Amino acid sequence: MSTPKAALITGGSRGIGAAIAERLADAGWDLTISARGEEALAAKAAELRALGVRVEAVPADMTDETAIAALTDAHVAAYGRCDALVVNAGMGTLGAVADFPVRRFDKLYQVNVRAPFLLMQGLLPTLRATAGEDGAAKVIALSSITGVYPEPTMTAYGATKAALISMCETFNLEESVNGVAATAICPGFVDTDMSEWTKGDGAIPAGEMITGADVAAIAFAVTELGRYAVLPQAVLSRPGTNLHRA
Ligand SMILES: NC(=O)c1ccc[n+]([C@@H]2O[C@H](COP(=O)([O-])OP(=O)(O)OC[C@H]3O[C@@H](n4cnc5c(N)ncnc54)[C@H](OP(=O)(O)O)[C@@H]3O)[C@@H](O)[C@H]2O)c1
Repeated sequence: MSTPKAALITGGSRGIGAAIAERLADAGWDLTISARGEEALAAKAAELRALGVRVEAVPADMTDETAIAALTDAHVAAYGRCDALVVNAGMGTLGAVADFPVRRFDKLYQVNVRAPFLLMQGLLPTLRATAGEDGAAKVIALSSITGVYPEPTMTAYGATKAALISMCETFNLEESVNGVAATAICPGFVDTDMSEWTKGDGAIPAGEMITGADVAAIAFAVTELGRYAVLPQAVLSRPGTNLHRA
């Protein structure tokens, strides 16, 4: 029997990260999942193990460089390979440029951009080794449609997501020749805790949002791509006339 594939997924305790974890576990992948909240993380890990795969649950705050290094070390120690790094943990804060607090801006960058960079850098030797001479390893980054098309009050958030797209594109220029390719998935509103604020006033009913399973289907398809197929960006819109809106 061949060694199962292995993925590290940040923000794997709920929402999109959990949906991607479930999709990969269904396909027999071993996983490392991470988030800050230890209880929810342990509960999700137990659910995933029930699908018959190995799961390491490693709590880490994406603002903490030491914790990020420990997370990559724990993944490599457990599995010795990384077929997919899913940089999904993220935060969102709305606000106009006029009065957006700069401390908030810095935190958004730490979690949404700096942490993915550190993870890509830290896992690169393992991603390259996993791809080897003729295989493939993937980086899947959860960007957002607001990183592609501007949206009022999303100046800071959208800028972090545009940065993530840029990072994936440049990463591909440097690393796709080594069999490691990055894809930025850029969805509109997905029905998770993060989009809760826009459901309440009926602006966008949860039932009309993209689902975590939709995003997971794209992520899984990316892991199925071979060494010579690079998908830099996948935009996932909601239906209707506002295709360029979250
Ligand atoms: N939902 C949407 O409409 C939407 C649309 C486009 C893109 N996205 C992007 O998709 C990704 C996932 O979003 P989601 O909707 O699934 O969000 P979510 O339901 O709020 O889940 C976020 C996940 O990230 C973890 N997390 C948050 N802050 C963290 C931190 N500082 N350190 C470590 N882990 C952290 C959370 O666990 P803890 O809180 O326990 O740490 C949780 O597991 C994000 O990057 C988001 O920007 C979301």
